[in-house]
Amino acid sequence: MKSKPTTKTDRSSKKTSSELPLDRWTAVDHYLTDLLVPADAALDAALRACVEAGLPAIQVSPPQGKLLHLLAKIQGARTILEIGTLGGYSTIWLARALPAGGRLITLEVDLKHAEVARANFTRARLDGLIELRLGRGLDTLPRLAAEGCGPFDFIFIDADKAAIPEYFEWSLKLSRVGSVIIADNVVRNGALIDEASADPSIQGVRRFHEMLAREPRVSATTLQTVGGKGYDGLTIALVRTV
Ligand code: SAH
Ligand code: DHB
Ligand code: MG
Repeated sequence: MKSKPTTKTDRSSKKTSSELPLDRWTAVDHYLTDLLVPADAALDAALRACVEAGLPAIQVSPPQGKLLHLLAKIQGARTILEIGTLGGYSTIWLARALPAGGRLITLEVDLKHAEVARANFTRARLDGLIELRLGRGLDTLPRLAAEGCGPFDFIFIDADKAAIPEYFEWSLKLSRVGSVIIADNVVRNGALIDEASADPSIQGVRRFHEMLAREPRVSATTLQTVGGKGYDGLTIALVRTV
């Protein structure tokens, strides 16, 4: 069946032959966003503030943000931990999945990113339920554990990719049976399978998958993704025992 043309980004008449895959992935992201991810004042303002502050545009895409939101809802998450805030775009998506009384802690090392994010949380009227902790994730995570924070129902790992294995170890310590752990950017344009790569990010995502393969406490899978941000992937892990 022919789909109804959409007003904003109807790319249906575009030729495929001479087109780069990224152009089509981006066009499909626009198409899906137009239909399934309605414009939202707080999220749009957050993205604008990130651009104005000169932050790198490496936040999750709108359909991915909504995926995180839906997964947190499906899971019934009341407590969420995010590692890697940037300007708080993914944070807002996740915080909006929380029921009344829910809490989200997000970790960020960069002061400028943190300031942009905090302003975005205030504008979104979510500053009451989001706590941003400034510092290196690997310094803050042991503190959270020592303070007795957690267990968290839902954890999103999205900071420096070289440290994903260590973030995953801490995530397990801060989990309960039934917690969901998501890790972003684990396929990296397919470089995941480049054994000899000297790139610490690639070694990080490789080590992470090797850990998952021999980790009896979780059941996990990784999905490859394409879109406006190129070719990457995300891991979804369910904690079975702690
Ligand atoms: N989750 C965000 C994107 C995060 S980008 C979104 O989708 O909207 C990755 C972020 O991790 C950057 O802001 C970067 O400053 C931060 N980061 C990098 N290394 C870190 C570390 N060691 N500890 C905490 N945050 C770190
Ligand atoms: C990078 C980080 C991300 O979280 C992302 O989604 C894409 C790229 C990066 O550091 O390059
Ligand atoms: Mg990411």
